[in-house]
Amino acid sequence: MSHILDGKKVAQKLKDRLKIDIENIKSKFDCVPGLAVVQVGNVAASSVYVKAKTKAAKEVGINVYDHHLEATTNQDELINLINQLNNSEDVDGILVQLPLPKTINEEVVLNSILPEKDADGFHPLNIGKLSISPNNDENLMIPCTPYGCLLLLKELDIKLVGKNAVVIGRSNIVGKPMAQLLLKESCTVTTVHSKTVDIKSICKKADILIAAIGKPEFVNKDWVKEGAIIIDVGINRVKINEDKSKLVGDVLFSDVEQKVSAISPVPGGVGPMTIACLLRNTTISCKNRLIN
Ligand code: GUN
Repeated sequence: MSHILDGKKVAQKLKDRLKIDIENIKSKFDCVPGLAVVQVGNVAASSVYVKAKTKAAKEVGINVYDHHLEATTNQDELINLINQLNNSEDVDGILVQLPLPKTINEEVVLNSILPEKDADGFHPLNIGKLSISPNNDENLMIPCTPYGCLLLLKELDIKLVGKNAVVIGRSNIVGKPMAQLLLKESCTVTTVHSKTVDIKSICKKADILIAAIGKPEFVNKDWVKEGAIIIDVGINRVKINEDKSKLVGDVLFSDVEQKVSAISPVPGGVGPMTIACLLRNTTISCKNRLIN
């Protein structure tokens, strides 16, 4: 039987700790962390994520400032808003939900967020710090999904040092920072992607396999080593019939479940961890502001 990595439970533990941190901040400094959540347009999945992030932030005591902009918003208007949020004393974290409309340059927008308010940890300065800072730097703003994956791995009673870790996918949001985080844990890390020759045989050597490709149920039991640990980052909505759909990961769960030692489910695995890590970054940003 494989161990199912319960992201909801682990995320709740992290949120409980943050709630106490935020109560302490409030009693000591008479203020609470503030998170600005910016959504442009009405992509259905983005609306679901934004709603979940807003709800979770409020639950732990973070003030949320919602900015839902029209799909026709242009880049200058969005950057104007970000500048206001950068200058606002109430805002510790700024989250711009991706993807943005095609007319807006994502990189320019993300780079306009002050690094110290970068709740997603996507700013080049934070990505740079992630790659060169010592392992135990608790003040880093770390990209939420990969950090959530790492915290799930740390729930297991295993040593990460020396493990053969394979990351499938090389996105800026997940694959690349995931590889950095695993490297810091002294794993031997390989990143595979759409142009990699014979992906399957590389994945099959992985002690730890992180699937972040965005292809529904792409990884099956022929890709995984007996006893491997699988973290499934994919959240794909697939149709069951004319009017019903369901969420599945990048891994064919039913196929690999018996072969692996641990696996994160979809839903209920990485998703809740991403949200909890966003709240962690916002709280850290607030603490950094108050202490410095
Ligand atoms: N879109 C998909 N994942 C994310 C994320 O982690 N942060 C933001 N801002 N947008 C996303």
